[in-house]
Amino acid sequence: MITNRQWRLRRRPEPGEIPGTGHFDFAVEAGPKAGAGQVLVRTLVLGTSPAQRGYISTSRSMHDKVPVGGVMRGRGVGVVVDSHHDAFAPGDLLTASLGWQDYAVITPTAESMSIMNIARLTRPVKPSSLHLGLLGGAGATAYFGLLDVGLAKPGETVVISAAAGGIGSLTGQIAKIAGCRVVGICGSDEKCTWITRDLKFDAAINYRTQDIDARLRELCPGGVDVYFDNVGGDTLNTVLDHLARRARVVICGWISTDYASGPQTGPANYKNLLRQRARMEGFYIFDYLARWGDAESRLREWYEAGRIDPCEDLDDGLEKMPETLASLFKGTNKGVKMNRVAPDPE
Ligand SMILES: NC(=O)c1ccc[n+]([C@@H]2O[C@H](COP(=O)([O-])OP(=O)(O)OC[C@H]3O[C@@H](n4cnc5c(N)ncnc54)[C@H](OP(=O)(O)O)[C@@H]3O)[C@@H](O)[C@H]2O)c1
Repeated sequence: MITNRQWRLRRRPEPGEIPGTGHFDFAVEAGPKAGAGQVLVRTLVLGTSPAQRGYISTSRSMHDKVPVGGVMRGRGVGVVVDSHHDAFAPGDLLTASLGWQDYAVITPTAESMSIMNIARLTRPVKPSSLHLGLLGGAGATAYFGLLDVGLAKPGETVVISAAAGGIGSLTGQIAKIAGCRVVGICGSDEKCTWITRDLKFDAAINYRTQDIDARLRELCPGGVDVYFDNVGGDTLNTVLDHLARRARVVICGWISTDYASGPQTGPANYKNLLRQRARMEGFYIFDYLARWGDAESRLREWYEAGRIDPCEDLDDGLEKMPETLASLFKGTNKGVKMNRVAPDPE
């Protein structure tokens, strides 16, 4: 008889309120059983994404809402413990939406078996967390955003916001591998030191203590060729004023304005796109499923050659999961934030 610990949504955070322990209930119940065509999975690692705030907030979001009382939705890596499905055997590793719980029952179908839904890991690596971070959504978003949308080329200047976050820290390293000059914007001196000293970014700007406009004038006298934007808002507006001729602005996310209360304003400096014949383009990683393998192979190659640090920031224990998610909005994470729920199998 197994027991299943779960985090269930108690109440929705109001606009401006960071989700935390008070919004969830920690429940313990009898573990689930897999029926015909189903697979029972033990959660090993859970990932985080700013989008999860949208799953539970009162604001409009492009994602389906988790119902009050429902298990919090979240993607993870798990190991199969019981299978009634031909494609899975006990011991197989997979990634899927497992939820914030120890055990999940999944129902693989022809439609649901894909890299961003239910995916058996055919070349598993250790630690398994790599399949959520560098070799998962964070790595693929950094890779396609920078190289496919941003078209970063050797010798160009790349600026990245939330540069010490999951996607930002990987994007900066990929830009260095691509031969670019890289400037990161992030929220503490400690993060600035980390990205320049350990990740080899060329320069860093602490947006909380420094004037981004003045620092960009100093650090990017020839202008910014690629701006990879994770935060939107005032930072986006300021960087728009520093674009080089034919620059590319990659809209990956807008965490600074996502769940703020009150009206949202657009970037007044968008006019510089015309002056500099520049381009601003949003992208969504789900549009890259067909080419996912390209990113995974290149990232795996760089990882095995010691050219890229996976920048994992792991909490330990399912009971910490609300705080694990909150760290993205408090800015206390460094790298790809995840939670280790159970040890990897031998
Ligand atoms: N386009 C896509 O397909 C796609 C896919 C996944 C994620 N995303 C987006 O990519 C971005 C990065 O996601 P991630 O998972 O890697 O998260 P992350 O960057 O690891 O975590 C969030 C970071 O954002 C910064 N931040 C938080 N609140 C902020 C604020 N009010 N103003 C400025 N910075 C703030 C914090 O760093 P500081 O200390 O520097 O403030 C924090 O560490 C997010 O915008 C996310 O929505 C896009």
